[in-house]
Amino acid sequence: MKARLFGFCRRSSGSAVVCRILILGLTAVGSFLATYRSSIQTTGATSSAPDQSTDDTLLLDHLRLCGKHRLASDYRLMPLTRAVVAYFPVKQLEPYLGQLKWCLRSLLEMMKDEPKLWRTDIVLYVEDLTSPELRQLGCSTTARQNASEPFKCILVKYTKVQDRVIDPKSSGYDRELKDQFKEYSFIDSIAPLAEQPEVYLNYDFVVRSDLDVFFTPAFSKWIPPGCTFITGNGGYSDPYNLMKLALVANHSGSYFNSSIWNIGSTWVGPAPLISKIAARTVHWMVYLSKTEFAPKMRKQSWWSQAVLWPEWHYGVLLLYGGQLAINEILHAGRRYPFQKIDLDHPTTSTAACTETGPIHLHTYQSDTYFSKYRFASGAYKNTHSLPIVLNSSRCCDYAGYIAGDSLSMSPEVLANSLHAIKRYG
Ligand SMILES: *[C@@H]1O[C@H](CO)[C@@H](O)[C@H](O)[C@H]1NC(C)=O
Ligand SMILES: *[C@@H]1O[C@H](CO)[C@@H](O)[C@H](O)[C@H]1NC(C)=O
Ligand SMILES: *[C@@H]1O[C@H](CO)[C@@H](O)[C@H](O)[C@H]1NC(C)=O
Ligand SMILES: *[C@@H]1O[C@H](CO)[C@@H](O)[C@H](O)[C@H]1NC(C)=O
Repeated sequence: MKARLFGFCRRSSGSAVVCRILILGLTAVGSFLATYRSSIQTTGATSSAPDQSTDDTLLLDHLRLCGKHRLASDYRLMPLTRAVVAYFPVKQLEPYLGQLKWCLRSLLEMMKDEPKLWRTDIVLYVEDLTSPELRQLGCSTTARQNASEPFKCILVKYTKVQDRVIDPKSSGYDRELKDQFKEYSFIDSIAPLAEQPEVYLNYDFVVRSDLDVFFTPAFSKWIPPGCTFITGNGGYSDPYNLMKLALVANHSGSYFNSSIWNIGSTWVGPAPLISKIAARTVHWMVYLSKTEFAPKMRKQSWWSQAVLWPEWHYGVLLLYGGQLAINEILHAGRRYPFQKIDLDHPTTSTAACTETGPIHLHTYQSDTYFSKYRFASGAYKNTHSLPIVLNSSRCCDYAGYIAGDSLSMSPEVLANSLHAIKRYG
């Protein structure tokens, strides 16, 4: 069965752009496409609204991608590429190298059940491309050439916002970033995705995630249903910040839906949407930092005390920015589908981490098993040893087993195993 998607846009009165999407020759289109059958109207641009022509391209890319995967009778038999994309602080190897190793070990575990023609890579934005520890893990600057190559760990050069040198030739964007985020290093977990999306745009799906996470067997055969933009659940919203974000959005002429709260920090979605939302998240972070937080409140000595938590806390600026961007770009789901699922499931959980369980586990500030703090302090080595054999389906045991196994594997063995598992696609 073949489907052809055509979209065309015309500029109507003012700055509004009307796009019509024609879908021809479909026999079994998922209901998600119905959303696009009618004309999609984007309202007039304001100073802070995203560029409309980029938006049209984004929409069409999104539709092509959705068509490609959803129209296949069994997309699991088709080649498909996914990328886990993250910032890795090379200069703070402790404790982050251990976390990267267990994250890679979890990808290896997941790949045992992954469809033969699927590939899941990891893309790391790093300050130092020559880090021996990353080279030992098989990471290099070589991009994926085609969809059949084995697993790749790809390094991309990135300069932390705090380390950037501002000179007379610096752009307004660089100045603002440096100016606002002198004491907010979480900007580096999103800025590289906004600044260098080309390194992941060729992938079908992108996972934006921290690295203190575990992918589970349930991730093996999973893609966002209906090309939905997926997030987990966060814990930062309260009535005051919801009202404040709604006012900020309204003041900028941006769509905002007050029934959508607590958007988590991990995202999974089609690459062009991830890129667009990352760029707008950075935009909103700058905007909020500049207009809604006084200079004193941007100092880490002030915000790290969390005196205004949870009402209005600079420490979660990244999440506030994400909430505004998701509303703006997706229209909170009216324009592009948006859904929250059980991402960032805690590693302390005793729920079942089987093929139908959560797809992604995240460690939190906790000393309860499985705890990243206890792991980093070596506490599990003696008093509470980690499972050597995975004889329980509990999520905490899955995390414990994977983390324990990543400790006993040399970087070379881990790298070779990841490379070998899909060598004969
Ligand atoms: C994919 O790229 C690799 C590396 O360039 C090459 O060796 C391999 O032949 C290519 N495979 C296909 C199917 O193009
Ligand atoms: C902003 O609020 C006003 C007053 O409630 C409303 O009429 C307008 O549609 C809102 N703008 C947006 C972009 O939601
Ligand atoms: C806001 O989102 C909810 C849940 O998705 C939806 O039911 C509702 O219609 C939305 N409201 C507006 C004004 O878009
Ligand atoms: C199964 O797990 C329990 C609890 O961690 C452990 O005591 C036991 O030795 C394990 N059994 C096997 C066969 O590894």
